[in-house]
Amino acid sequence: MKKILIVGSGGQIGTELVKKLRATYGNENVVASDLRPLTGERYNIDTIYNLAAILSATAEKNPMLGWNVGIGSLVNCLETARIFNCAVFTPSSIGAFGASTPHDNTPQDTIQRPNTIYGVTKVTGELLSDYYFTRFGVDTRSVRFPGLISNLTLPGGGTTDYAVEIYYAAVKGEKFYCPISKGTYMDMMYMPDALDAMVDIMEADPSKLVHRNSFNVTAMSFDPEIIYNAIKKYYPNFEMEYKFDPIRQAIADSWPNKMDDSCARKEWGWNPKYDLDKMTVDMIETLKKKLL
Ligand code: SER
Repeated sequence: MKKILIVGSGGQIGTELVKKLRATYGNENVVASDLRPLTGERYNIDTIYNLAAILSATAEKNPMLGWNVGIGSLVNCLETARIFNCAVFTPSSIGAFGASTPHDNTPQDTIQRPNTIYGVTKVTGELLSDYYFTRFGVDTRSVRFPGLISNLTLPGGGTTDYAVEIYYAAVKGEKFYCPISKGTYMDMMYMPDALDAMVDIMEADPSKLVHRNSFNVTAMSFDPEIIYNAIKKYYPNFEMEYKFDPIRQAIADSWPNKMDDSCARKEWGWNPKYDLDKMTVDMIETLKKKLL
């Protein structure tokens, strides 16, 4: 049985991953940490989920904070893993790509020249994680997440957050002001699929992994108009107005429209369960219970 440490367990991903891993591996095998220090107990950790990060748009406002949080946490986790012989999962992102990357069917192995500090930390993370694997044999694994849509904890200032906020507005009966322009496609995924990806890649047979850091994974790709129309089926009077944010728009324009995730499918069986319509039904049902 794995003994797992989650770093950054209070964020958008962490709050849900703690529950999922405790249900999968047992409460006593999953230690959650965030900004507060760990207790002095010995847990015999053998797997670390390193989730600490400042998302893309927020990091642009304070690049050194973005770098220090993303890389500081990564280096601490990798060094701890090297010394104590742990496996490490660190999420990478569509943010690891940039304007010179092919935007359609973005290949697994391609140009990675991001122009955000978030993207720079993600590419650094991929390289450093691969280095720790080849140089020290640390079992590092990672996926490049698209925008994650969830209903427990709000994301903290990313470029894809609009795809979460639009559901909150619809369920609350408010007009939605969209910070991303019509026609801007980005990869997205519902949180239950993201949680499965994080467990499945860490359980994957290492002999089948050609890649490690980091696998393209996606579940859907849409622009604001498409998600708006998917929600409008349930809220016919829902209104959306475009009010674009130049920082987020520039970032979104530099990211892929749709990634090719065939390597993840082949090497460890990646197969998401939620498309846009199925996610929309579940988001609306869950948010109604939470907000109304
Ligand atoms: N959701 C992240 C962001 O928008 C991308 O990984 O910053």
